[in-house]
Amino acid sequence: MILGIGIDLTPVSRMAEAMARHPDRLEAKLFTDGERAYCRARADAAQHFAARFAAKEALLKALKVPPGLSWHELEVVCDEGGAPRLELHGEAARAASSAGVARLHLSITHAADQALAFVVAESA
Ligand SMILES: CC(C)(COP(=O)(O)OP(=O)(O)OC[C@H]1O[C@@H](n2cnc3c(N)ncnc32)[C@H](O)[C@@H]1OP(=O)(O)O)[C@@H](O)C(=O)NCCC(=O)NCCS
Repeated sequence: MILGIGIDLTPVSRMAEAMARHPDRLEAKLFTDGERAYCRARADAAQHFAARFAAKEALLKALKVPPGLSWHELEVVCDEGGAPRLELHGEAARAASSAGVARLHLSITHAADQALAFVVAESA
């Protein structure tokens, strides 16, 4: 059964400007080391960062998780073929589990100035 869905659109330029205003600090606050390594290794890092931020926002919409989570508890990882998925840690994982979420589905796209993510939360 679908427990929740979430979608988010993040302007790439807004993400790039925010990160430029707070070099390193914002990037370290929002993204895990793995996410940072993935994005930094790509030609247009800001597109990939914006997509990951959109994925985290979409997940929050899908899960209605409590406030006060660390952004690092919501992590986007990619499989060998490039398909993204969400891994939850700590309080976010506990909140999702107690809400009955067994599986999360994530799709990402980005082009020019827009990055979009869509999340579906599913029960067992
Ligand atoms: C998967 C695929 C459709 C993505 O198309 P695309 O236009 O490059 O993707 P978009 O620019 O819209 O979105 C990029 C995001 O797609 C996601 N993505 C990449 N590979 C994916 C895959 N195999 N499955 C699902 N999502 C994938 C990633 O999250 C990526 O963003 P990220 O790098 O920031 O994580 C494309 O890479 C593809 O066709 N791969 C298969 C190639 C192939 O075998 N072609 C020949 C047979 S038709």
